[in-house]
Amino acid sequence: METVRTIAELRQHVRAWRKNDESVGLVPTMGGLHAGHLSLVSHSKAHAKHTIATLFVNPSQFAPHEDFATYPRTEEADQRMLAEAGTDLLFAPNVSEIYPDGHSTRVNVQGLSQILEGEFRPDFFSGVATVVAKLLLQALPDVAVFGEKDYQQLCVIKTMARDLDIPVNIIGAETIREDDGLAMSSRNQYLTAEERKIAPVLYAAITQVAARVRKGESPASQRTWAEAKLTKAGFGAVDYVAVRDAQTLGPVRDASRPARVLAAAYLGRARLIDNVAV
Ligand code: PAF
Repeated sequence: METVRTIAELRQHVRAWRKNDESVGLVPTMGGLHAGHLSLVSHSKAHAKHTIATLFVNPSQFAPHEDFATYPRTEEADQRMLAEAGTDLLFAPNVSEIYPDGHSTRVNVQGLSQILEGEFRPDFFSGVATVVAKLLLQALPDVAVFGEKDYQQLCVIKTMARDLDIPVNIIGAETIREDDGLAMSSRNQYLTAEERKIAPVLYAAITQVAARVRKGESPASQRTWAEAKLTKAGFGAVDYVAVRDAQTLGPVRDASRPARVLAAAYLGRARLIDNVAV
């Protein structure tokens, strides 16, 4: 697996594949890879002849007080894992390749970016939409794969690609979990051994919320119950536990439409997010 750092080199590879009419899949990542990322590679390989992974810790999606400086950077290990998983090409650009001096465009998916995660991380989704739009236009893949672990991010990216007429099929891949239910995440490394034992309570809580709603309880009344469960287990601030329409992420108005439980809460210095289908 070759690693390239420039858009020109990336496009050279894609052009050669396209000449032979071969399809291309893209797996954008910020590195710190785990089995969840490798499952995105498998999804891409099932849909396209060639898979490109990208590794770029995107500064524009971190607020100044967030963990940009300390975000796990493990490029050598990431390269090994991606190669073993059958990735064809790694695009690992420097910040100046993606945001050269004078870069001044931002992509903003209105509405969807301001609710839930967006209430607590106001610039996060415009940072994500901007970099993903750029990566899609740089590689012009047939498919791009994103984890359902970041469910709202997946909704934002699908909306962005549709609205900007980017000719790509955005695929959502099921969340990969540890044996005790904790969703795999690069940020799980921030948990102490004690916190790691408590962390699966987040998945347990939202799974129970989904079951309660399925039994007919009101979606709107679930937050109080779930927050009490999380706090009792040792979680800190609970940013949200919400049952929402699975497509619009707005309030559930029609019980016959798919719904999703989404949550974010602090455990020590880690902020964990997770979601499940109702
Ligand atoms: O989910 C991530 O790792 C990032 O938000 C993404 C999609 C790679 C954009 O930087």
